[in-house]
Amino acid sequence: MAHTWSMRFRLAWFVLRTAYWIPRTILPDVYSNDALICFNSHAFVDDPEFKRAYQRGVQALGGKDFYHWEWRVHVGLWAAATASHLEGDFVECGVSHGFLSSAVMENLDWDRLGKTFYLLDTFEGMDERFVTALERKAGALTKSKAALDFGIYANSADQVRANFSQWRNHRVIAGTVPETLDEVDTDRVAFLHIDMNCAPPEVAALKYFWPKLTPGAVVLLDDYTQRGRDEQRQAMDDVAKELGIAICALPTGQGLLLKPAR
Ligand SMILES: C[S@@+](CC[C@H](N)C(=O)[O-])C[C@H]1O[C@@H](n2cnc3c(N)ncnc32)[C@H](O)[C@@H]1O
Repeated sequence: MAHTWSMRFRLAWFVLRTAYWIPRTILPDVYSNDALICFNSHAFVDDPEFKRAYQRGVQALGGKDFYHWEWRVHVGLWAAATASHLEGDFVECGVSHGFLSSAVMENLDWDRLGKTFYLLDTFEGMDERFVTALERKAGALTKSKAALDFGIYANSADQVRANFSQWRNHRVIAGTVPETLDEVDTDRVAFLHIDMNCAPPEVAALKYFWPKLTPGAVVLLDDYTQRGRDEQRQAMDDVAKELGIAICALPTGQGLLLKPAR
């Protein structure tokens, strides 16, 4: 069984990498990765500061970039740099190996800011108690288990802690969102990254942190426009309506929102 999964995974991986490689080869200036084929400039990939931050993210993955999330990381670095000027700490719900958060911390020379980065994950994949019936039906739990088995999701909180040991001002909180949210012992948040690939804990995190978000705080939803994650998008749209705000849909698969100043 594990062997069959492994073969399927490798085959799917090969097909995916080839599908992105073809447009890049025919049209060399095109960005083609991570569900995005774009003709506009992606000059940011050549920026030495971007490269350094991105490579720190790759280091968190164990040195091999199995994501190719360049444009997503570019958006994440911009969002975090914007939030770094505001009062408040940083939170990520769904950290896994710490790819995006390591890139952010490297880019901002983290300990210099005097903020704390709270890093929340089960480190055991999705918690079935916080997955909807539809997500379960669409195979969310099976995919989460496969991601853990193949090392796409981190399965060791200790390894993740070792990755972040380069910085002082952070706390890794292992356990299930929403149950761990009250372990985030700050009442001011400037940057919130939500990336748990299932709606119930994501909605809970946004609702929980909303009153704590500093005016102008940046919230980045990793999965908002990803194909096949309609339930997450609709759930977030419902929360946004309740809160009287709008989410900007990005072609990277992300969603972006700001806490209004008033
Ligand atoms: C796509 S990964 C996160 C990737 C990460 N943001 C990065 O930059 O590499 C999704 C993560 O969400 C975590 N997760 C899923 N449901 C969760 C929950 N209810 N509470 C905490 N973590 C959860 C999984 O364990 C997994 O590590």
